[in-house]
Amino acid sequence: MVALVGPTGSGKTTIMNLLTRFYDISEGKIRIDGKDIREWDKNSLRSRLGMVLQDAHLFSGTIRDNIRYGRLDATEEEIRSAAKLANADGFIRKLPQGYDTPLSAEGGNLSHGQRQLLTIARAILSDPSILILDEATSSVDKRTEMHIQEAMKALMQGRTSFVIAHRLSTIQEADLILVVRGGEIVERGTHEQLLALRGLYAEMHANPSADAG
Ligand SMILES: Nc1ncnc2c1ncn2[C@@H]1O[C@H](COP(=O)(O)OP(=O)(O)OP(=O)(O)O)[C@@H](O)[C@H]1O
Ligand SMILES: [Mg+2]
Repeated sequence: MVALVGPTGSGKTTIMNLLTRFYDISEGKIRIDGKDIREWDKNSLRSRLGMVLQDAHLFSGTIRDNIRYGRLDATEEEIRSAAKLANADGFIRKLPQGYDTPLSAEGGNLSHGQRQLLTIARAILSDPSILILDEATSSVDKRTEMHIQEAMKALMQGRTSFVIAHRLSTIQEADLILVVRGGEIVERGTHEQLLALRGLYAEMHANPSADAG
């Protein structure tokens, strides 16, 4: 688990966009299992990456269709168990039309947190080897936040994951934390190492309200 933290606009999402080849890098190399990602076919690269992004991407269709998008041949049972693992099954079943609830492209009838839970369910279903989680910045209530964190934990089990967290509490157990500022990695280490460094991370830890982003 590699975590990226840093102020808003520091370049965290940009790094993820490079990894997924939404942009190509102009210098240096990014390798997966030793192979330069520019040698990968974009589609096969992305099929190995599971993404839960800041702006949860849902399309018009039912909730079921939106989860199934993670793996088109998934059975009803697999869809439901992914939703359960993602902590989404509860709110879905409370909707009058349940899994058949139609969504607008913007996910209009759902809260931001609920939309993110759906994209987590979708990622669970797709069973990727590498996960990219870009935590939503928008404020979600405490309960939903807890649900999202639990769901993310379930999803990260046994995979390589890159996590952008806006609350440092989410990533304390990361194997490596990268602190990004002004487009550069300025500190790297574990939670304990970074606290001992008494730099930007330690400062962000001491003043959580100032870690914006
Ligand atoms: N497509 C783009 N073209 C030009 N500049 C961009 C583009 N996307 C992002 N930027 C700029 O790059 C910088 C880093 O943006 P980025 O989205 O990576 O920040 P971030 O660390 O993810 O911030 P946040 O915590 O708010 O999500 C910002 O100044 C942003 O305006
Ligand atoms: Mg971002």
